[in-house]
Amino acid sequence: MALAIALVLIVVLAVGFHVASPWWITPIASNWGRMDDTLTITIVITGVLFVAINLFVVAALLRYRHKDGHRASYEPHNRRLEWWLIGVTTVGVAALLAPGLFVYADYVRPPPNALQMEVLGQQWQWRFRFAGPGGKLGTTDVRYMTNDNPFGMNPADPNGRDNYLIDTPELHLPINRPIQVLARSRDVLHDFYVPPFRARMNMVPGMVTTFWFTPTKAGRYDILCAQLCGIGHANMRGVVVVEDEAAFARWLAQQTTFEQRQKAKAQAASASAGGPSQALAEQGRTLAQAKGCVACHSVDGSPGVGPTWKGLYGKTETMADGSTAHVDEAYLRAFIRDPKARVVKGFAPIMPSFDLSEQELSALVAYIQAQGGAPAATTAKP
Ligand code: CUA
Repeated sequence: MALAIALVLIVVLAVGFHVASPWWITPIASNWGRMDDTLTITIVITGVLFVAINLFVVAALLRYRHKDGHRASYEPHNRRLEWWLIGVTTVGVAALLAPGLFVYADYVRPPPNALQMEVLGQQWQWRFRFAGPGGKLGTTDVRYMTNDNPFGMNPADPNGRDNYLIDTPELHLPINRPIQVLARSRDVLHDFYVPPFRARMNMVPGMVTTFWFTPTKAGRYDILCAQLCGIGHANMRGVVVVEDEAAFARWLAQQTTFEQRQKAKAQAASASAGGPSQALAEQGRTLAQAKGCVACHSVDGSPGVGPTWKGLYGKTETMADGSTAHVDEAYLRAFIRDPKARVVKGFAPIMPSFDLSEQELSALVAYIQAQGGAPAATTAKP
């Protein structure tokens, strides 16, 4: 009897919690209302079965409970009942799976006028790429991937020259226009996920995965990584801004193209290195945000996953092997280039390598130096 009451209570509380729960899905901001429909179908089917099975057990417990003078009859097999169960289960499982298959078939087949957007994942950064005025995304290959070419753009492909490359985790998209997403990863599994779009896709190293959606509501939405991809997974966040076509076009025009980047790189190489160090440190600050450094390193002295940058420059650091090292420009450069070569005492060897050009590395070091407590004694540039 106690078991029967407990089961009835579980059913009542579970259904009551579902109805009264404050946790509802976030308002939808894309065309994929069918994702919600398939979810509703699943909840209805599994919910009805959950209630029916539990109440059946309750009924059986009450009806067939032990009475003196009664004996249970032995009936090992009931062919008719089994065919019924097989039939009902088959229909139920098909009803759970089939709607999802139809939705998925459309999900990976974009309409012909879709705007292509590439998203590139890397521990723990987002990058994005759009075609330029030429309207085509240039080819890429892992062989071309370097610190200066994190997208792996093929330098020989004329289609890639006018491609807009975006290294910051802020993406803009035009409203009411279908977007075809082409997803790549540079290292491990990541997953591009924007909950209000009801759209997500795994990003698999070595292949391009795809889906499409149409943003239908202007606003700012969080981009989350939905695959556990290492210690910085929770910090692998970005923002997508959905705005009208004109605002999107203005934003896109402000981004640098692959060709502009190559020119800037060539200029930086030919010009003598080093500008006003304040501007350099400012660039380093932006970089520290964009690359996610600030997720592990504070600049106000508060403890984090990695050493704080406050007062780091100029101090003497004790390493895990007991040796000591003076934190100067050479130390920081070497450490950022190869974080696992030496380990600082008291910290786990979990810092990933970042793809920084020489110029970016200088900027980052200048920024860390600017957080130094000791007076900046060495400002000489190599
Ligand atoms: Cu990338 Cu989790």
